[in-house]
Amino acid sequence: MSENSNKPMRILSGMRPTGKLHLGHMKGVLENWLRLQHDNHCFFFAADWHALTTDYANPSIVKETIWDMLVDWLAVGIDPEKAVVFIQSEVPEHAELHLLFSFMTPLPWLERVPTYKDQIEQLKEKDLGTYGFLGYPLLQAADILIYRADAVPVGEDQVPHVELTREVARRFNHLYRQGIPPLFPEPKSLLLPASKLPGLDGRKMSKSYNNTIEISEEWKVTEKKVKTMPTDPARVHRDDPGTPEKCPVWDFHKIYSTETERAEVHEGCTTAGIGCLDCKKILLNHLEAELQPIRDRRIEIAAHMDDVHDIVRHGNERARHEASRTMEKVRKTLKMGYRV
Ligand code: TRP
Ligand code: SF4
Repeated sequence: MSENSNKPMRILSGMRPTGKLHLGHMKGVLENWLRLQHDNHCFFFAADWHALTTDYANPSIVKETIWDMLVDWLAVGIDPEKAVVFIQSEVPEHAELHLLFSFMTPLPWLERVPTYKDQIEQLKEKDLGTYGFLGYPLLQAADILIYRADAVPVGEDQVPHVELTREVARRFNHLYRQGIPPLFPEPKSLLLPASKLPGLDGRKMSKSYNNTIEISEEWKVTEKKVKTMPTDPARVHRDDPGTPEKCPVWDFHKIYSTETERAEVHEGCTTAGIGCLDCKKILLNHLEAELQPIRDRRIEIAAHMDDVHDIVRHGNERARHEASRTMEKVRKTLKMGYRV
């Protein structure tokens, strides 16, 4: 990744405001953003229009979650001095570029995006047979190309969207920029390793499974959740030995605990030398050490929402400045010089 090369890259990534952020977001996405923001030009945005592609019937979700999400970003350490933090719909140029791309994008390119049919199947309770849902990877292409990003940190499921983005960039350059330098670079995916942190029950951490630790929840809540986490079912009694590999608590130890602690836990579990509560206490110490400073910061930040609004307003302006520069060039390329 970029950390090894000296040349800063222009990086763009977005997150949908659809609910409270949890440890899965923090470990899987935000920690990568944190690393990238130091040596690169980063743009991080709240993808509110994307949230509407699936939640169009319930737009209040965006309003209810967007500022909490932005506060979480800041509390975790996203630094507005280093990265441009903004809200997608505050930069309407994304929509203009999306429209212009829609004219030149063959339908099959969108129909074959693997998430398309999957999501329609999976989210049966929502009617996703809409124009906007089919087109949302193209909106994502506009999000990326409008900043002429070099790289996009994404999870595996989003790689086909970046691939589509490259195809759209190529098509635009090919159709309109023959004999002149291409306008859009072809961005690459910075593949984020999937977070190894599962949810409290061992499945993927997800709001819909009700197995999350939220960044903003109180310590008491986290403590209770961990204490009631399922463990290896073989350990019915304190003196029944267990198998850590069959226990979600062990997955947390693999991320949080030191090697010595892990050796102790492994030995203690398999010989019934320790109880599950002892084992969880070790984990709780690590979680507290990690989360408490973030939560303190979060409370501090949330007490000054005017400052957060200023940060985002400033980010919106910086993003908009970049986006309008690109749109000037796009309009010129499409011979739209008759506009007054
Ligand atoms: N589609 C992404 C998601 O659902 C969010 C997103 C929107 C995004 N635009 C983007 C991610 C541009 C990276 C780059 O998670
Ligand atoms: Fe899980 Fe720890 Fe109990 Fe073993 S001792 S079953 S790893 S909680």
